[in-house]
This record gives sequence, C-alpha cells and structure tokens, in this order.
Amino acid sequence: MRDITDYLEAHQTDFEDSLCELLRIPSVSADPAFHSHCAKAADWVAEEFRGMGLAAELIPTCGQPLVFAQSEKIPGAPTVLVYGHYDVQPPDPLDQWISPPFEPTKRNGNLYARGATDDKGQMFTHVASAKAWLKTRGKLPVNLKYIIEGEEESGSSGINEYIATAAAKEKLACDIIVISDTSQFGPGQPAITYGLRGGVWFELRVTGPKQDLHSGTFGGGVTNPLVALSKMVASLIDSRGRIQLPGFYDDVVPLSDRERKQFASLPFNEPAFMEQLGVSGLTGEEGFTTLERRWARPTFDIHGLGGGYQGPGPKSIVPAAGFAKISFRLVPKQQPDKIAAALEAFLRPLCPAGVTLEVIGNHGAPGVLTNLESPYVSAAERAIEQGFGKKPVFIREGGSIPIVSTFAQRLGADTLLLGWGLDDDNTHSPNEKFCLADFHRGIKASAFLWEELGQLSRR
Ligand code: BES
Ligand code: ZN
Repeated sequence: MRDITDYLEAHQTDFEDSLCELLRIPSVSADPAFHSHCAKAADWVAEEFRGMGLAAELIPTCGQPLVFAQSEKIPGAPTVLVYGHYDVQPPDPLDQWISPPFEPTKRNGNLYARGATDDKGQMFTHVASAKAWLKTRGKLPVNLKYIIEGEEESGSSGINEYIATAAAKEKLACDIIVISDTSQFGPGQPAITYGLRGGVWFELRVTGPKQDLHSGTFGGGVTNPLVALSKMVASLIDSRGRIQLPGFYDDVVPLSDRERKQFASLPFNEPAFMEQLGVSGLTGEEGFTTLERRWARPTFDIHGLGGGYQGPGPKSIVPAAGFAKISFRLVPKQQPDKIAAALEAFLRPLCPAGVTLEVIGNHGAPGVLTNLESPYVSAAERAIEQGFGKKPVFIREGGSIPIVSTFAQRLGADTLLLGWGLDDDNTHSPNEKFCLADFHRGIKASAFLWEELGQLSRR
C-alpha cells in the first residue's frame, strides 16, 4: 500500500482544492431557490468521476438528480456501493458564520463551509481514495459503484422513487454498502456506527381570523392561533420527557442491559459535552443517560415556531396564523406512518373552535440497526485502524440517513456506517467544519477499505 499512501500524501492539497470547488456550490435541497445549484453540484460530482476514468451518469428524478458511477468490472471481486449526498442544509442564520458558508475557508486545521462534513467532505473521501488507486495501480481491487443523491436533507424523494424501480435494483446490486455521513466517537477515537434513529417530520399550520387584529379590541373574544398552537405543541411532551401520543412507545424495543453497559463503558464526559454546547444543564426522558437519550430513545423536537409580529418593539395583535415545524426521532421498529396517524388523531380534538389546524406530513424514515457479524465489519475495523492509527469503537447515533433501511430491503445488503466527522463539526449549524487531518485520515482509511474488502473474496 506504500505506493497508494505516498500518492495520498503527495496530493493532499489537490484533494482539498477539489473539495473546495464542490463546497462553493450552494446546493441547498430544502429551498427551491437553490435547486439550480443542486443541478450544478450533481454535474460537478459526475465530472469528477469521469475525470477519474469511471463511467458516470446523471439519473433524473422527481426531485434533484442522482449521480451514478461505476468502475470497470473485475470478475470475482466484491461489489461495493458507496452512498453519499451532495445536497446541504440551509446555511441560516447567516450572520453567525465567521466566514461565509459557501466560501470554504481554512482555520486552525479545519475547513469551514456548509457541507464540509455533512456530507460533501465525507463523501469525497471515497472518491479521492479510488482516484489514488486508479492513478497508482490503474485499477481498483473491488467493483466500486457510487450513488450520490441530492435530497438527503429534505426527504430523499428522488432516490426513494428510483430505488423502487427494477432498473435501480439491478444497477445498485452490491455485496456491501459504505456510507460516511456520521461521526467518530470523539477526537482521535474513530467509530463504526451500528444504529441510526429514524424520524417523521411535520409542519403544523394554525389559521384564525382573516387578518391580524388589534388585541385590545378583539383579544379574549377570538381564538388566538399562536396560543392554540403553543398549547397543542406543548401537550405533545410532558415534563418527564415522555411523548404523549397514545401508543407512541408500543414498538420501542427496550435497551438491553448489555447495550446499556456498553454505552456506559464509552468515555463520555458530560461536563465537557455541556461546555461544548454552551448549556448549563441537560434534560430528557427520565431514567435514561444522555447517550441513551441521544442514540436509542425516541424524541420530540420543535425546529421552528413562527407567526405574528417578529419585528423590533412590541405590537399588540391577535395574529392571523402561526406555524410549527416539528419532528419525532424514532428508534428501530417504530413506524413513521403509525406515528403520523397518532399525531393527527391526538391533535384534532385539541384544536379549539375559531382556528383551523393543518398537519402537513413532510417525510419520514424508520431507524436502523446494522449487522455487526460480518467479515465486512472486520475489514472496516482493520481499514480504520490503518487510516486513523486507532481501532474503532462501536456506537449508535441519533441522526437519520433515510435511505439505509430502504437499501437493506431493496438490495438485501448490509451497510457500513463509517463516520469521519466530529460531534462539534456544527453540522446543520453556523460554522460547519471538517477537521482536515480527519479528511485525510478518512481518505486513507477508505483506500485501505478497498484493499481489505478486495481480499475478502479471495479468502
Ligand atoms: N449526516 C446526517 C445524519 C447523521 C447526523 C447521522 C448525526 C449521525 C449523526 C444527515 O445528513 C442528516 O442530517 N440527516 C437528516 C435526515 C432527515 C432530514 C430526514 C437528519 O438526521 O435530520
Ligand atoms: Zn445532515
């Protein structure tokens, strides 16, 4: 592997420069105003593959295009499918960024930009590693396929539509799936993630009078949409952190003693965690530790709450309408559709006369647990140790990658979740970053992963 690691070292700046080109494209999938940039990002990724000598194509969908690429067929070698996403979260609030979100900037060994870790930077590690193999050896030790989507952050509608087709089943057929869109356990402690939460996302809209009203003249006599909305939203969770939808916990699989012990054995430092987030205390579901709450218990969150007057100074009105963007994170076996039905049934009777409630379901995905008993996992362990100089620990994470459960169903393949990010990378927040040393360690681990996986078929 010396030839390949030498190549990686000699080309570090080139890889950083290429990633910066992709990071300059503001491919925000949630906002239609940015959709032309999503198309540009898809083109960029496809061109990058072509530049490496892979066959690449854009697959149009009902949403943003998919990029598919594959290497030349090597009979007898395992087929690996790499999934990633070129779309990013909205960069707001813009005034909190030290350097602009779409002008990648290096500071203190980190690369700052929206998408730096989530997921352009992490996805790119698997592109760079393949490039190193192709440039030094002329071929890869595995059959590599890539499927890079552009709507992971906003519901994955395009890939969901595509994966249901017979063509996709054939095209994406593989022995193992590799995804880097998660995190290490901490700095210097790489991890293999074996569980992700799912979730179900909604927007609630409450509409009252046909326009804003003077709250002195009319207040008390008409239903205030924001009061009604606040009460409905607040009733979804109690003061012990328990979600109040009937049946919500029915399908939740309790944590085993073994898993609780394993979580507890990880070096998690609660005061340091609080300091990192800038909070003075932690709350959550009673009876569970912070790692259990974040990784293996379902939750309720409000992402945005709005309506009425938001400008400077006071304004006495009964607003005409209000909205809340909410979600429930779900654990494996909980079904998004069932939770959606329970939400509708729970809120309807709570909606007072004089306002109307709309429950708009945005998207959902079930949680997943991946198989740890496979030679692919051992291969990934060895590759990570070679890339990062440290054996990975096994963790679950609280975030969601909606397509993972669908891949398992449709392609019948396991997924390796190999995260190079860090919890303090500010993903979905201002000042997202990727540690450049981790970027290069990720590329190296990925290069070793192709080698390790390639040897499996020969055993
Ligand atoms: N990279 C994240 C998933 C993730 C986050 C995994 C944290 C592990 C820890 C991914 O890009 C993401 O943000 N997914 C969304 C999906 C949702 C919009 C359906 C999420 O988790 O909110
Ligand atoms: Zn994300």
